[in-house]
Amino acid sequence: MNPLPETLTTARLHLRCPVIDDAGAIFRSYAQDPQVCRFMIWVPHASVAVTEDFMASCVAAWASGSRKAFVITELGESEPIGMLEARMQGSTVDIGYVLAASHWGRGLMPEAIQSLTVAALQSPEIFRVQATCDSENTPSQRALEKAGFNREGRMERYTVHPNISSAPRACFMYAKCR
Ligand SMILES: CC(C)(COP(=O)(O)OP(=O)(O)OC[C@H]1O[C@@H](n2cnc3c(N)ncnc32)[C@H](O)[C@@H]1OP(=O)(O)O)[C@@H](O)C(=O)NCCC(=O)NCCS
Repeated sequence: MNPLPETLTTARLHLRCPVIDDAGAIFRSYAQDPQVCRFMIWVPHASVAVTEDFMASCVAAWASGSRKAFVITELGESEPIGMLEARMQGSTVDIGYVLAASHWGRGLMPEAIQSLTVAALQSPEIFRVQATCDSENTPSQRALEKAGFNREGRMERYTVHPNISSAPRACFMYAKCR
């Protein structure tokens, strides 16, 4: 059983389960955008078929309970603008997130992260929500800080971000615990 809710609603956003039909909009809005993908562990999608495969993996993982990759829409809109993924690791939820560049700078992702984190830490079996990000990904660091996460440390040679280099790079570990 996955203790996270099926949907989340914030002041401006709705977070819901992924469906394969989201692939077209996600491909168009950010999955093929090199600027958005710069600090991700995946390369820009070469075609919508790649996005469809990814969405299929998200649908299967949601059903198994191992990972919930929420699709983010603005309230009253149907078009996906990003995703917030929660991976279950025992008493820890490890998150990853991405937003279309046209929506950056409005505080939307901190709002989504905060909402998911509050819900996760209300669950009796979850004690920690964590995220890692590249040491040069200032927007991501700021988003986590605004969502109330603490920077716990710097991990050298921790993650390969293939759009920058094939060599593993330094990352910061952030977390919010109860
Ligand atoms: C990281 C990300 C999700 C932040 O989401 P957001 O909703 O834009 O977050 P905020 O509006 O709170 O802005 C956070 C920071 O982004 C930067 N920022 C704001 N507007 C920006 C813009 N138009 N272009 C680039 N960076 C911008 C600022 O550093 C800002 O911090 P500040 O408010 O202290 O100035 C978003 O930048 C993104 O999707 N980036 C690409 C994917 C990614 O790196 N994901 C995280 C992997 S660990």
